[in-house]
Amino acid sequence: MARGPGLPPPPPRPLPLLLLLLLHLAAVTRHAAAQDNCTCPTNKMTVCGPDGPGGRCQCRALGSGAVVDCTTLTSKCLLLKARMSSTKSGRGLVRPSEHAIVDNDGLYDPDCDQEGRFKARQCNQTSVCWCVNSVGVRRTDKGDQSLRCDELVRTHHILIDLRHRPAARAFNHSELDAALRRLFRDRYRLQPRFLAAVHYEEPTIQIELRQNSSQKVPGDVDIADAAYYFERDIKGESLFAGSGDMDVRVRGEPLHVERTLIYYLDEQPPQFSMKRLTPGLVAVIVVVALAVVAGVVVLVVSNRRKAGKYKKVEAKELGELRNAPSQ
Ligand SMILES: *[C@@H]1O[C@H](CO)[C@@H](O)[C@H](O)[C@H]1NC(C)=O
Ligand SMILES: *[C@@H]1O[C@H](CO)[C@@H](O)[C@H](O)[C@H]1NC(C)=O
Ligand SMILES: *[C@@H]1O[C@H](CO)[C@@H](O)[C@H](O)[C@H]1NC(C)=O
Ligand SMILES: *[C@@H]1O[C@H](CO)[C@@H](O)[C@H](O)[C@H]1NC(C)=O
Repeated sequence: MARGPGLPPPPPRPLPLLLLLLLHLAAVTRHAAAQDNCTCPTNKMTVCGPDGPGGRCQCRALGSGAVVDCTTLTSKCLLLKARMSSTKSGRGLVRPSEHAIVDNDGLYDPDCDQEGRFKARQCNQTSVCWCVNSVGVRRTDKGDQSLRCDELVRTHHILIDLRHRPAARAFNHSELDAALRRLFRDRYRLQPRFLAAVHYEEPTIQIELRQNSSQKVPGDVDIADAAYYFERDIKGESLFAGSGDMDVRVRGEPLHVERTLIYYLDEQPPQFSMKRLTPGLVAVIVVVALAVVAGVVVLVVSNRRKAGKYKKVEAKELGELRNAPSQ
């Protein structure tokens, strides 16, 4: 812009000032927005606030107050603890009857270690103790406080057995396989190598998760946690904040799950005095529902309408299960 001589000096250009103001405004709104969406995408059972280093968003699990990493799944132990605490405070959950607490091994207020894993020994308020595996399922008889659990036994194989509602036509196995692998990779952030296999014989789908201690490296999602998030998704109780329900489609056709059994196999056989385990069957343990009678017990996760109802069924050995998949 040319200026003739003799003209008064121009007023200070308004642009830099305006720009500064705008930038400031933008920063303020961005800050406000960050506060607004200071939530934990992978765990809605948390309380979040700008308490992290530098005022960053930080989330703590309900019940334990443990800081959780919202870029990955939260451990099942912390989730169960959060669930029990919200049950006590009546936050949108039905308080299970006394009977349910006593009978249902699947729901208890667990002790978690520093890393959020189950402590090997769990006790309830009345000093009744028992040992659990890495999915928090009881694997010994109950004892008193003298009971010892030397180490946390790892559940290295999880078999999820689903039955789907009749679809217009049977799913294409390889497409179903791909859809489920995508689900576990993207939604549950499980390393694809830990999803060992997907078996399908209409209407039964079996998902095998395998992960032993030497395969798992720090930062890997544990199959116990992936299976637990999946279980809650199936029940219509998604743990993700605002990302919607699980939606699995195979060539556009939605997968509606009718019934689910989850089998847990440990690296060591469980130790129940009441039953003798077949020696070849290293560690079949499944439980989670009700009290263990003889034999193995299976968790039945029912579909959305019957969500929360657990039923006890007689367990099958894995081999048998494959041969009679609709059982
Ligand atoms: C807020 O949401 C935006 C967009 O959804 C996302 O990119 C950003 O990381 C979120 N911030 C926090 C602190 O969660
Ligand atoms: C503790 O466990 C024992 C044995 O299962 C049960 O009888 C008792 O009611 C439990 N107490 C609580 C508070 O859960
Ligand atoms: C299943 O889908 C794959 C890939 O889309 C295809 O190659 C295969 O022929 C299909 N199988 C059947 C039985 O339709
Ligand atoms: C873990 O799994 C891998 C691959 O299946 C196997 O080679 C390895 O021997 C297993 N380790 C243990 C301790 O079971």
